[in-house]
Amino acid sequence: MQQQPLSRLAEEDIIAAIGQEWMLVSAGTPDDFNMLTASWGGIGHLWNKPVAFIFVRPERYTHEFIARNERISLAFLGNEPQAREAYKLIGTRSGRDLDKAAATGLTPIATPLGSTTYAQARLTLEGRKLFQTDLRAEDFIDRTILDRCYRPEQGGLHTLYVIEIEGIYTP
Ligand SMILES: Cc1cc2nc3c(=O)[nH]c(=O)nc-3n(C[C@H](O)[C@H](O)[C@H](O)COP(=O)(O)O)c2cc1C
Repeated sequence: MQQQPLSRLAEEDIIAAIGQEWMLVSAGTPDDFNMLTASWGGIGHLWNKPVAFIFVRPERYTHEFIARNERISLAFLGNEPQAREAYKLIGTRSGRDLDKAAATGLTPIATPLGSTTYAQARLTLEGRKLFQTDLRAEDFIDRTILDRCYRPEQGGLHTLYVIEIEGIYTP
């Protein structure tokens, strides 16, 4: 795994990478981790640090792993058919019921700071949790988002996590 400078992110169309390519949000070590597919989030500059922010609904199994671990990784798998299949399975099945790495053929590997990414990832960001908060319905200024994204069958309001980007890795 090659460490990359922060400027590596300038090569990414990050809105498209998150929103269209998607990413795996993982927490835990390679022998005790879980991951989900995410397509919401961002990269930015906050509190004088490079940060990423992600949104995880409380019922996700990954939510429990994020609570137990100091760091989170964001793994970008690309757009090849095998990656699309992996994103779909990992984004529709829970790690409570299935070994999602085994089911998708992904190879979990340790990151330099002790989280988990995958041998197949084209890009991985790793960061330390700085902040978390549970979204509240009363804080939505545009209430139509609640109707579109928070119908009861879609699950609970997300926990927002801000992580400090500490590592950027390519294979
Ligand atoms: C394209 C796509 C994007 C998703 N984005 C998110 C997200 O940003 N936050 C979230 O909590 N779940 C998101 N999900 C749903 C989780 O990936 C899904 O519920 C997953 O099965 C949870 O797995 P777990 O229970 O093992 O954590 C997304 C799913 C897909 C297919």
